[in-house]
Amino acid sequence: MPAMEGRLISIEGPDGAGKSTLALGLRNELAARGIEVILTREPGDGPVGPQIRQVLLEGADIDQWTEVFLFLADRRQHVEGLIRPALEKGKWVVCDRYLDSTIVYQGYGRDLDVGLLRKLNKIATSGLMPDRTLLIDMPVEKALARIGVADLFGDGGAKRNRHDRLDREPVEFHRRVRDGFLAEARLDPARFAVLDGDQEPAKVLEQAIASLTAS
Ligand code: TYD
Repeated sequence: MPAMEGRLISIEGPDGAGKSTLALGLRNELAARGIEVILTREPGDGPVGPQIRQVLLEGADIDQWTEVFLFLADRRQHVEGLIRPALEKGKWVVCDRYLDSTIVYQGYGRDLDVGLLRKLNKIATSGLMPDRTLLIDMPVEKALARIGVADLFGDGGAKRNRHDRLDREPVEFHRRVRDGFLAEARLDPARFAVLDGDQEPAKVLEQAIASLTAS
């Protein structure tokens, strides 16, 4: 296999934490510094991604392990069809969600076996780990309010239908997700940088750049 010169940067965090805004800002900032960078996301940006994304996020309720295998199938195609080839060409890849989302949403959130999920992730990615993971952390209530999951605050769920299947999980689920991300970050402090999402987007971007240039 040719040597990889590119860097894989994943962005993680609970729904509503501002990942997509950071991903876009980071892409622009890196490009302005002359780095060839690709912005991509999971689920959905791999070669079979759009179809898998639709089943996962818009479909009816599905079995928990079916959900895992769909996220993993999407990831496998994403890694082999897009991420690895880009890294091999020396490009940087900024990925909005990657393997930690499965550990945290399906493991901590749905209470599936985290050890097993780690093994499955390894198969799905052939062991391709991010060089750096930017975790945007913020209080669950604030993050959900940002994306308008306001029934938690007593509007009777009027805005709920605009959201995907995962967004509509109860607040306890989102709390487990937040705590899960923080627990994973503590397990691997060399890879994770925890960013405070409860501030202006420009500040979050600044923190992200600082953590990349420090590495
Ligand atoms: P998306 O619309 O991309 O949400 P967000 O903007 O919050 O990233 O939907 C992704 C949803 O899928 C999100 O709720 C997290 C969830 N997810 C998992 O549960 N497991 C996974 O492995 C991945 C990649 C995402």
